[in-house]
Amino acid sequence: MSLRKLYYALPPGLRYLARKVYYLPVDLWEGLTGKRHPYEPPKGDIYIGSGDFIRQGRHQLDLLRRYAGLQPSDAVLDVGSGIGRTAVALTGFLDASGRYEGFDVVQKGVDWCNRKIKKDFPNFNFQYVALNNDLYNNSANRATGFRFPYPDAQFDKVFLFSVFTHMQVDEIAHYLKEIARVLRPGGQCLTTFFLYEESRPDGAVSRTEFNFPVQKQGYRLMDEQVKSANIALAFSTLSSIVDAARLTQTDIIRGYWSDPALKTSDNSFQDIVLLRRPV
Ligand SMILES: C[S@@+](CC[C@H](N)C(=O)[O-])C[C@H]1O[C@@H](n2cnc3c(N)ncnc32)[C@H](O)[C@@H]1O
Repeated sequence: MSLRKLYYALPPGLRYLARKVYYLPVDLWEGLTGKRHPYEPPKGDIYIGSGDFIRQGRHQLDLLRRYAGLQPSDAVLDVGSGIGRTAVALTGFLDASGRYEGFDVVQKGVDWCNRKIKKDFPNFNFQYVALNNDLYNNSANRATGFRFPYPDAQFDKVFLFSVFTHMQVDEIAHYLKEIARVLRPGGQCLTTFFLYEESRPDGAVSRTEFNFPVQKQGYRLMDEQVKSANIALAFSTLSSIVDAARLTQTDIIRGYWSDPALKTSDNSFQDIVLLRRPV
């Protein structure tokens, strides 16, 4: 069994504990030597994935500037804000006239962000929402019935890094409608997906170790037991839910997840999808 499979086999509470124990030595060392960036959580608390937290956040900021034309005065919504990876990078970019809102289904990530980031940057705000996600939260409330806690037409930009890759298709379809509601006319959304061509025999999703063996109607799962572990959408599924939300798909920038040969000096692992609310 791979380490990833083993991790998914644990219930959410135990996954957080396993991570904490695994990183305890390095966290103690970094804490004692003062090596950690002031806005970086201990590694054992970074439940959103591995890698360099600060560098990845800067990469996300770079993508928002490059593809969504992010401005320092923008009002932005970070859906699935996690433990502040993107928010930390944005603290050095948004100015006092800008506004940041984030929400997430993991309380400890939201609490860390409010404790560490909001304290120093009052125009940043994070909210916990109790919604079910079999990778992250045991709540009984489904995301399909969730109204984002903001009035209509509030945001210049909405973004989701590695969030729709962990949600079910009906939940994503509902969130796209909510995104269309809270975006200002002409506002943009940058979101990441794993996308595949249904017409290819293997779906072009099994060339690397990172694959989606469970075939469903219009999407594929990495793990049948943990449905939110990772999900890949057929291009046709994406188009139909984007249309249903009355958003316009303006661009797709392919990532290299399905084929390491697609890796360049500045592209991302996941596919990037750019959407706009029509004026
Ligand atoms: C891989 S993490 C990415 C976090 C963050 N966007 C980042 O790039 O660091 C996926 C996040 O999506 C959140 N999430 C999952 N389902 C959600 C939902 N229905 N609504 C909001 N956030 C959700 C998880 O709790 C987790 O923090």
